[in-house]
Amino acid sequence: MKLTVAIDGPAAAGKGTISKAVAREFGLAHLDTGLLYRAVGAKVLAGAAPVEAAEALVPADLAPEDALRTPDVAQAASRVAADPEVRAKLLEFQRNFARREGGAVLDGRDIGTVICPDAEVKLFVTASAEARAERRYKELIGNGHEVTPEQVLADVKARDARDAGRDAAPMVAAEDAVMLDTTELSIAEALDRARECIRLKIK
Ligand code: DC
Repeated sequence: MKLTVAIDGPAAAGKGTISKAVAREFGLAHLDTGLLYRAVGAKVLAGAAPVEAAEALVPADLAPEDALRTPDVAQAASRVAADPEVRAKLLEFQRNFARREGGAVLDGRDIGTVICPDAEVKLFVTASAEARAERRYKELIGNGHEVTPEQVLADVKARDARDAGRDAAPMVAAEDAVMLDTTELSIAEALDRARECIRLKIK
């Protein structure tokens, strides 16, 4: 079976949680494409050149997930992601992953528009900036980061503006994506809706 589920949306909208859960339930492989950009961003923070860092990326670079989930790395990821050459270096890996036998879920910003425009299922998961910042704040505090709610909201808004405003594969919902606004939804409710979309397609 070749089934691609593309899940896009801004930071902390819930796409990671939804992607992991549906991948598990439907027996699909999962790729968090944000991790690719985070790994490149982390290498750039350590002194590497962005395009070379993207070209040299290996699976082990994605393994220290906690170290990649810091606010500094998130901003660095968003900056390197605006470079079309960096994006080009990461394209083939993502496309190959998407068409793997057994099916795959990919989450990111441009999966339904650029990486997999033919994906069988496309979701665009969003929520208000305030709701997303509150979730991200709790997550960061829970992981021992010292941040304030104001900082996190400012970071979320800066990242939204950069990710949606860039010329190269900007964050935008594909025309045929199902919109899922999770501002007022519990995780269980958001998951129910995502599940339903996939079931309709694979029936
Ligand atoms: O999903 P995330 O927050 O881990 O992503 C980190 C950054 O990577 C995000 O701000 C923009 C970039 N990104 C992208 O440009 N395209 C993707 N498919 C995934 C992430």
